[in-house]
Amino acid sequence: MNIKNYIDYRAVKKLKIYEGKVVIRPLTKNDLAQTIKWLKDPEVNKFLTNDFNKLTLEQETGWLKEMNGSLIDFVFAIDDKKSKKYIGNCGIHKVNWENKTCEFGIVIGDKNYWEKKFGSDAIKAAIKFAFDKLNLLKIKLYVYEYNTRAINAYKKHGFEVKEILIKDHLYKNFYWNTLVMEIKKE
Ligand SMILES: CC(C)(COP(=O)(O)OP(=O)(O)OC[C@H]1O[C@@H](n2cnc3c(N)ncnc32)[C@H](O)[C@@H]1OP(=O)(O)O)[C@@H](O)C(=O)NCCC(=O)NCCS
Repeated sequence: MNIKNYIDYRAVKKLKIYEGKVVIRPLTKNDLAQTIKWLKDPEVNKFLTNDFNKLTLEQETGWLKEMNGSLIDFVFAIDDKKSKKYIGNCGIHKVNWENKTCEFGIVIGDKNYWEKKFGSDAIKAAIKFAFDKLNLLKIKLYVYEYNTRAINAYKKHGFEVKEILIKDHLYKNFYWNTLVMEIKKE
């Protein structure tokens, strides 16, 4: 039987997952104005795979609608559990139900929350979601070689470097490697 038959999409899209200092919860329209500010911040954007400089609220609203209707994408807001403050986003994307694989992305957009373990807890929550709620077996991600903080955070939570895409990312007039990292369910 196809795995799709086991997933109650409406239910999983409404899930909140509590992990350490964070809760990951469904991203809403009300979050998007803040999301856009973060995505446009050069200090944040330099770590992301898209240039969001010209992104509008209308486009982002359209993207969220697409994500909410998608059977292969699951997007979350990350909140500080204690203060309930919205601090970032994460998502499970490109789910391949046959191979039980997906791709992961994260951004702690509020820089005051960097390096305080909020990212680590959100990564743990997303891994739980992918493995325990979606029954996937492998998570893949892409990270630039200059993003040592993210690389260390991913390694700490069990991701391993599987491939290096040599000099494929242009940033500040220099081509950088992209690391492809993966974690498998134990
Ligand atoms: C990458 C990111 C998710 C990490 O989350 P974080 O909350 O800032 O990091 P954490 O406090 O959880 O730290 C996790 C680990 O990263 C490493 N780390 C933290 N600060 C670091 C730094 N300045 N340099 C290198 N490694 C660092 C440490 O190994 C740390 O674990 P440890 O302190 O227990 O040893 C977050 O910083 C972020 O979203 N950054 C901007 C966007 C981004 O880079 N997204 C990822 C794109 S692939």
